[in-house]
Amino acid sequence: MVYELDQPGVVEFKTRTLAGLGAEPAAEHRIAAADLREDWPAALRTAGFDPARPTAWSAEGLLGYLPPDAQDRLLDTVTELSAPGSRLATESRPAPEPAGEDRTRESLDRISQRWKDRGFDPGMAKLRYYGDRNEAGPYLTGLGWTLTGATVRELLAVAGLAPLGEDGLRMGEVRYVSGVLG
Ligand SMILES: C[S@@+](CC[C@H](N)C(=O)[O-])C[C@H]1O[C@@H](n2cnc3c(N)ncnc32)[C@H](O)[C@@H]1O
Repeated sequence: MVYELDQPGVVEFKTRTLAGLGAEPAAEHRIAAADLREDWPAALRTAGFDPARPTAWSAEGLLGYLPPDAQDRLLDTVTELSAPGSRLATESRPAPEPAGEDRTRESLDRISQRWKDRGFDPGMAKLRYYGDRNEAGPYLTGLGWTLTGATVRELLAVAGLAPLGEDGLRMGEVRYVSGVLG
C-alpha cells in the first residue's frame, strides 16, 4: 500500500492530470490531502494508514518547504508513527550559514528566471523557509534512527558525473540519508 501525502491543491491537480492521461498506479495507492504544517496524521489515518505496521517513509525535496519548527514536528511525528522495522529516507541539508540566505535567494531567483524566460514564474525563493533549522540527519539520529547516507557530491563522483558548481544552494553538500528506527 502506498500513501501519498501532499497539499490539497497539488493532490487535486495531480489526480486530475493523471486521470486525464489514463495513468493507473501499479501499486495500491491512497491519497491523503493535508498540509504538513497542520494536523496531517489525521488525514493519513482517514486514508487508512495503520501505524501498527512498519512503514517506509520517503520525504525527498520537501524539508526546505517547511518552516523549521514544522520540519522538527514532521520528523518527531514520523518517528511516533513508526512501528518497529520502519524505514525512512530523506535529505539532510547542512545547517544554514550565517548570511547565507541572500545567496540562497539569489540562486533560486536565477533558477526561476530560466522558467520565466519560458513564460512560467515559479517564484521559487518565496516557496522556501529561511532561518536557522536543525540538520535532519543528526536530528533523526537523536530520535533513535540509525542512518547511512552520501552527499550529492559523493554520489556524482561515484557515478562519474561532473561536480556541481558552487552556489547559494550548496546542493553538493546535501546528504541523502536512509535507515531504520532502532
Ligand atoms: C520539490 S517537490 C518534491 C516532490 C517529491 N519528491 C515527489 O517525487 O513527488 C516538494 C513537494 O512538497 C510538497 N509540499 C510543500 N509544502 C508542503 C506542505 N506544507 N504540506 C504538504 N506538502 C507540501 C509540494 O506540494 C511538492 O509536492
